[in-house]
Amino acid sequence: MNVILLGAPGAGKGTQAINIAEQTGLTHVSSGDLFRAALRDGTELGQKAKAFMDRGDLVPDNIVIDMIMERIGAPDCAKGVIFDGFPRTVDQALALSDVLQRNNQAIDAVLYLSVDQEILLKRISGRVTCKNCGAVYNIYFTPTSQPGICDRCGSDQLYQRSDDNEETARNRLDVYFHQTTPLIDHYREQGTLHEIDGQGDIAQITHAMVQAIGANSGH
Ligand code: AP5
Ligand code: MG
Repeated sequence: MNVILLGAPGAGKGTQAINIAEQTGLTHVSSGDLFRAALRDGTELGQKAKAFMDRGDLVPDNIVIDMIMERIGAPDCAKGVIFDGFPRTVDQALALSDVLQRNNQAIDAVLYLSVDQEILLKRISGRVTCKNCGAVYNIYFTPTSQPGICDRCGSDQLYQRSDDNEETARNRLDVYFHQTTPLIDHYREQGTLHEIDGQGDIAQITHAMVQAIGANSGH
């Protein structure tokens, strides 16, 4: 079973992917997290991606596709993957369906999280992430119970992403509308698209998403 999360920057892909992975056993693969880890580790991949990410532009397709292909070849992905932030262009989508087809697999569901545009910037500017476990919070909407302490793992390593400043965030939204929204129609035509309202209670959104996955898997 393979599931794609589609949605604008700040739509809640990462937040929901963590919950869905916990509830379904799928492995969470986030292209943005992989780039950020490569950057932290000082690898060549991280260096290549950095300038694009700092501007809020997409990293070139060949670099992203190679990275994802390597990741999904790992043993923990054999049970199925929830893709977060990939694919983001039609070429990335075609590369993914090609490799899945060669392995007798398919994309079982594409969950498109829709959120009003004016909310996205506030979500992005208020986001803090736990360096230790990856949990995501928001100073305006979903703060931690104790200031500066992760509810999930107790770490005090909460940080703000460097691309969450207003200028970069505006470009990320622009890039999303130009380069990624064509995927909505692409997957709608394939009959795998579920549109989910990404506003409201986080647990209820997770519930709707898990139900949509269940419907597609025939459970
Ligand atoms: P990436 O890391 O994927 O960032 P993104 O797509 O911009 O998405 P975000 O992570 O900003 O948002 P999200 O949807 O995960 O929202 P979250 O759950 O955190 O990519 C970063 C960069 O890497 C790109 O700009 C690009 O350069 C490069 N890149 C990555 N993948 C690539 C690819 N495939 N091709 C080319 N380049 C690529 O939630 C946001 C906030 O809202 C949080 O604070 C959260 O607490 C809050 N929130 C979530 N849900 C709710 C809710 N229901 N109510 C209230 N608040 C909520
Ligand atoms: Mg994310």
